[in-house]
Amino acid sequence: MSERSEAEIALANRQFCESWLDEDQPITDARPRGQDLGAMPIGSGGGVVLRFLAASVNARSVVEIGTGAGVSGTWLLRGMDEDGVLTTIDVEAAHQQIAKQTFAAAGFAGHKVRLITGQALEVLPRLSDGAYDLVFIDAAKKEYADYLAEAMRLLRPGGIVAIDNALWHGQVADPTSRDEATIAIRDLLRRVRDDERLVPLLLPSGDGLLAAVVKTPVGSG
Ligand SMILES: C[S@@+](CC[C@H](N)C(=O)[O-])C[C@H]1O[C@@H](n2cnc3c(N)ncnc32)[C@H](O)[C@@H]1O
Repeated sequence: MSERSEAEIALANRQFCESWLDEDQPITDARPRGQDLGAMPIGSGGGVVLRFLAASVNARSVVEIGTGAGVSGTWLLRGMDEDGVLTTIDVEAAHQQIAKQTFAAAGFAGHKVRLITGQALEVLPRLSDGAYDLVFIDAAKKEYADYLAEAMRLLRPGGIVAIDNALWHGQVADPTSRDEATIAIRDLLRRVRDDERLVPLLLPSGDGLLAAVVKTPVGSG
């Protein structure tokens, strides 16, 4: 066996995990479109986690904040129940037009996807309390704490909140990084970790995926 440093092994493991499951054509086609739009799609490692989480709670109602070109939405739909509906919000109608094409290419057309164009913090208050199985957050970093508060209202007990870019390109772990997005994400990590209503998990997949299950209150069934 060759002598490898811990850093080399960690990198090799990471690359192996990120490419362990191949992405198919609807997603590989959408990826460069998202990048061209400046709506960076979730990595394949993170996408696999989203599909797993959606399947683990038999998700029928999912909210996505930040549609982009539809990469994360496609992964979520692939884990959701067949009769599930993805409600996906983005402030850019042009991004949602591309996402619509991605969803159609992946076999999810019409009633499976509810696209809402608008500022997330104006749209979210219109959605029903406790009606959702999973909320995925991937939009304006400085609004993450507000998205989390909305997610807590929208999720049923046992539901899951998942948040992309939880490691923000290595900046979160670097104590010298103090830009606005990094500070907002550190604040969010603290809120999720310290919230007694949540069971949290931080994964290094992609750019970092933070997830948490909403505990079912004791004695509620
Ligand atoms: C990183 S991209 C989302 C990528 C997508 N989740 C995927 O994996 O394919 C972020 C998206 O959030 C949208 N966005 C940014 N700020 C927003 C806001 N305040 N309200 C709603 N959408 C917003 C952007 O237009 C962009 O499409």
